[in-house]
Amino acid sequence: MDSEKFVAKTYAGLEELLKDELVALGATNCQIGTRAVEFEGDMAMMYRANYFCRYALRILWQVQEFTFRDNKQFYEQIFKFPAERLMDADNTLAFSVTMSGSMFRTPLFAAQLAKDAVCDRFRDKFDQRPSVDKESPDVQFHIHIYNNHAALFLDSSGESLHKRGYRVSTHPAQISEVVAAAMVKLSGWHGECDLIDPMCGSGTILIEAAMQALNIPAGFFREHYGFERWKNFDRRLWQRVTDEADIHDDVPVNFYGSDISARFLGMAEANVKAARLGDFIRLFRKAMRDTQPKRTPATLIFNPPYGERLDMEEIDEFYKEIGDTLKQNYAGCTAFLISSNIQAIKHIGLHPSKKTTLFNGALECKFLRYDLYAGKR
Ligand SMILES: C[S@@+](CC[C@H](N)C(=O)[O-])C[C@H]1O[C@@H](n2cnc3c(N)ncnc32)[C@H](O)[C@@H]1O
Repeated sequence: MDSEKFVAKTYAGLEELLKDELVALGATNCQIGTRAVEFEGDMAMMYRANYFCRYALRILWQVQEFTFRDNKQFYEQIFKFPAERLMDADNTLAFSVTMSGSMFRTPLFAAQLAKDAVCDRFRDKFDQRPSVDKESPDVQFHIHIYNNHAALFLDSSGESLHKRGYRVSTHPAQISEVVAAAMVKLSGWHGECDLIDPMCGSGTILIEAAMQALNIPAGFFREHYGFERWKNFDRRLWQRVTDEADIHDDVPVNFYGSDISARFLGMAEANVKAARLGDFIRLFRKAMRDTQPKRTPATLIFNPPYGERLDMEEIDEFYKEIGDTLKQNYAGCTAFLISSNIQAIKHIGLHPSKKTTLFNGALECKFLRYDLYAGKR
């Protein structure tokens, strides 16, 4: 099959990681964009990106690209797309549109016009129009419009790929699985020492770290992908791609998680169980100040509260306690934490050896590295 064009979407700041990941999976002509990486490959590559990418949110397949002068030309170009290769008239569809500098008044108007073009094509050919289902369409189209230039995509992922399939319990301040996976990767930890999350909440960072160490594909627990509902879904090819996974039976390190809240720890237990990682991840109910490593060196990666529910003085004191605990209990270890609270971070009282900007959803955060030496340095 000829090489097809795709776009993998991600969060701001993770484009480089995603590009490296796609190259390692065999993608060609990778180009970094804004919160996105363009790449080329065949259908197997599209399946592979959906199944293995830890840093992608969705994989879009570009099926058409054109320029247009007016509504009529836009409609005609979309009308030309042979959508019957992917769906039947009794299937459902939906359109989303992003645009900048376009002649259309609203994205909604462009989406409506594009939907009419596809539906009219079905009416002309089969005497039946597909219906719209915005919640769970069989085929989700996406159009990107830039001035008078448009690209038509099919969303091959369906639900966002951060939904890995192991989360059975939802924490009010959980970190996105994609950001957690990126934190583990950016820390440089690759399974050479124990990994600790002393404020583990629902266990996302521990689960993502264990999945990386055991080489469990990001989509291993996920049951559905958008492309499975397309007419051209190649079940045997998909099987071949998922068979490429090379999962390790064991790792020589442990994963330790603790949290002050029994309720949140219960969530971590449920998620760890759903990810079948109970043999690797040990969970304890403890305040951080009462924790220490079982052996050193160890790596801590965590996501403390940013302080939305505390007043300024309390949050400064809370971050000071984090710093004191790192100094007193974790000498010989390396700690990484993510926080959006720049003011509070200063109260940790340790000098970060590395600082990276990451986004946790819409929140701009700092991802900080602290090397914890024994005694004064
Ligand atoms: C932002 S949440 C972590 C979310 C987690 N990364 C996840 O994905 O679910 C912060 C967690 O720190 C916990 N916490 C707050 N104070 C703590 C303390 N002193 N010691 C240990 N855990 C604490 C909270 O109970 C909460 O679960």
